[in-house]
Amino acid sequence: MAGASVPTPAHSEAVETALGKLDLEAKARLLAGQDMWSLPALPEIGLRSLVMSDGPIGVRGVHWTAEDPSIALPSPTALAATWDPDLARRAGTLLAQEARRKGVHVLLAPTVNLHRSPLGGRHFECYSEDPCLTGEIGSGYVNGVQSGGVATTVKHFVANDAETDRFTVDNVIDPRPLRELYLAPFETIVEKARPWGFMAAYNKVNGVTMTEHQHLQNEVLRGEWGFDGIIVSDWMAARSTVGAILGGLDIAMPGPRTVYGDALAAAVRKGDVEESTVDEAVRNVLRLAARVGLLDGVDPAVTDPPAPVDGRALAREVARRAFVLVRNEVRDRRPTLPIDPARVRTLALIGAAARDARVLGGGSATVFPEHVVSPLAGLTAALPEGALTYAVGADPSDELAPAAQGFELRAVCRDAEGNVLGTGSLPGGQVQWIGDDLPAGVTHEALHSVEVTGTFTPRESGEHTFGTRGIGAFTLRVDGRLLWDGTQAMSGAADPFEAFFGAPAERGRAHLTEGVPVEVSLLHPVHRTPGAPLTAVMFSLTHLGPRRDGDELIAEAVETARNAEVAVVVVATTDRVESEGFDRRDLSLPGRQDDLVRAVAAANPNTVVVVNSGSPVELPWRGDVAAVLLSWFPGQEGGAALADVLLGHTEPGGRLPTTWPTALAAAPVAEVQPTDGQLPYVEGLFIGYRAYDKAAVTPAYPFGHGFGYTSWEYESLEVTRARAKVRIRNTGGRAGRETVQIYLAPVADTVERPVRWLAGFASVEAAAGASVEADIPLRGRTFEIWDEAASRWTFVPGQYEVRACHSLTDVRLTATLEV
Ligand code: BGC
Repeated sequence: MAGASVPTPAHSEAVETALGKLDLEAKARLLAGQDMWSLPALPEIGLRSLVMSDGPIGVRGVHWTAEDPSIALPSPTALAATWDPDLARRAGTLLAQEARRKGVHVLLAPTVNLHRSPLGGRHFECYSEDPCLTGEIGSGYVNGVQSGGVATTVKHFVANDAETDRFTVDNVIDPRPLRELYLAPFETIVEKARPWGFMAAYNKVNGVTMTEHQHLQNEVLRGEWGFDGIIVSDWMAARSTVGAILGGLDIAMPGPRTVYGDALAAAVRKGDVEESTVDEAVRNVLRLAARVGLLDGVDPAVTDPPAPVDGRALAREVARRAFVLVRNEVRDRRPTLPIDPARVRTLALIGAAARDARVLGGGSATVFPEHVVSPLAGLTAALPEGALTYAVGADPSDELAPAAQGFELRAVCRDAEGNVLGTGSLPGGQVQWIGDDLPAGVTHEALHSVEVTGTFTPRESGEHTFGTRGIGAFTLRVDGRLLWDGTQAMSGAADPFEAFFGAPAERGRAHLTEGVPVEVSLLHPVHRTPGAPLTAVMFSLTHLGPRRDGDELIAEAVETARNAEVAVVVVATTDRVESEGFDRRDLSLPGRQDDLVRAVAAANPNTVVVVNSGSPVELPWRGDVAAVLLSWFPGQEGGAALADVLLGHTEPGGRLPTTWPTALAAAPVAEVQPTDGQLPYVEGLFIGYRAYDKAAVTPAYPFGHGFGYTSWEYESLEVTRARAKVRIRNTGGRAGRETVQIYLAPVADTVERPVRWLAGFASVEAAAGASVEADIPLRGRTFEIWDEAASRWTFVPGQYEVRACHSLTDVRLTATLEV
């Protein structure tokens, strides 16, 4: 697979020929975005425009709108929880198909930063705390996308492990942890999948901003690792013309105002930059264009894309393979899950997220799926009629959120005279028009005001709260009544996307009746920030339903649970908790969800809790409920997959890709707040389970943990320096899949190292009673450390205990290996 990406002699020749025809201006122009998502075409050399799009759970395309829907796969944490690089490869193949459908050539994914602190806001968008698991899943993903002829940009290179002050933070990291942890997944992916692109992060590493990091980009990535793709800046991360081009950055995004283009040509003419340096970057871009089929005269790297993939089926498969069953109490020799529909005739489903499913994380990873299967819809479809009762129980969101449920909205664009220029559809009341991504007939020059208008049909009677998010003047009317007319000033926040990711402001309330539609209008004279690098219109209408008394809601849910044989409570985070542009403040479930679980569990001993979050949350009641299933952000088919797993059609296949802490206070590494601009990674090599081991802290659930619906006996382990062969037998009553995990523990270590680490893994299937062998390659690097004095990898000989495990702490067989 990786071989497909090696540039052919024909590619190299075509690249040189094209380069030879370009003058300095054209070269400099090619390295700068022409708009939010694309590079300019250069017809004089037969080069078409290269289009990029986020990533990673779907391909949004160049429009921020529900009119251009995308398949939404489960969150990256979920994909990692499958511990199956081949499934990640299949997900990648689907994404390539989606990209091709949308005319996208470069997918801005995967995100392979590490789970250093559970507070990391984009934790859901990264894979794991472990570099080996991250590297393997990332390699599968990249191989899959690129097998479809679409490029990836592995991001964010490197150490964008948290969001606080992400544009400026200087992450101070010693060479060993930098190599052995943070760079390691990027290195593995370069080796195993030969990605055609990387994205340079916003942050600094050891004093140098990443888009200018000559050492890491030119010396390490290109020099040592032999990477031959493009490096694109994260959006607005390129700050200096000379610094970036000398530091190895090929493409500055987005455009049209960037540090490249004219500024780059001028720097060459001034003698600050050699033209040959620009040529190198242009070569990289032309090579990428040749690979994805945008350069005339050469075949793309992939001429025969893989067979079509059924996106909905794959989204459902990944979701159920990702669910992690962390607790499954056995009573009277019968496990709580799966629920036997023949024995259980009544099921109470509880929780706001059971009805309004939270299927994906926020920020640039957002896509707009055509439909979403909520747990309520999934279970209702799977259970006999009348078996299910539903109660909200507690609403995790006590904040205004984008106006979605019950709203039918459009945006009306007018010029200065009030003439309508055009209209656009609106997902969730959010206007997000960047660059030329405007409704048909509308230009930024002519656009004077935008009115978000339409109807709202309340689901409940009572006092509804309305608000806005964004900067500038707003006039808000609901049901003919003026609720607000005023101006929101800039908060001074450093993040240019703050207007979109930031907190919504309450503007007024209205008493409304269930089922009775009312007119809604939010008028916004377009606000322009002089000198802003992007021309954009970004604001939202927000809404919050009537607040019912919390005790009353819980009492109602308890009553529902008491009358059913099984209670399933879905608890969730909100997009004010897990998103891009900010970190989390705590790990608790928002609202009164903990109280709800406790109350339901007290009323019904068969309480199953489904945790709908992209990353760890505290589960203080976890010992008091019968089962706990982590569903992550499960993608558009999440509710259907949940029914599959709860009712036992398939087993939950996931294992924890990250340690689940008992509480934030017990997490050994949590700090994400820089001091004087710096965030020192003081814990060095010890993050994730490595840190828990060092601090002798027992987490709520260890790395690698998760139950299926059958049992396994580990029969034999054979090990060499290159591989481990583990024979296991399915000793349960049904077919299943096991993820066999190999950890190394040095015996009497001579160097400072973690006491154990993941060295390899494989997932295998077997029928009831059958045995199967897991053949697990061990990478050479697993026996090496980075020698800081000599600046090179060094092999550490000695005795290692090799452990074949069900999880980090569930050791089934051991062998000693002398290397
Ligand atoms: C994010 C990137 C994303 C880019 C384009 C940035 O803010 O950090 O991950 O690819 O925006 O949406």
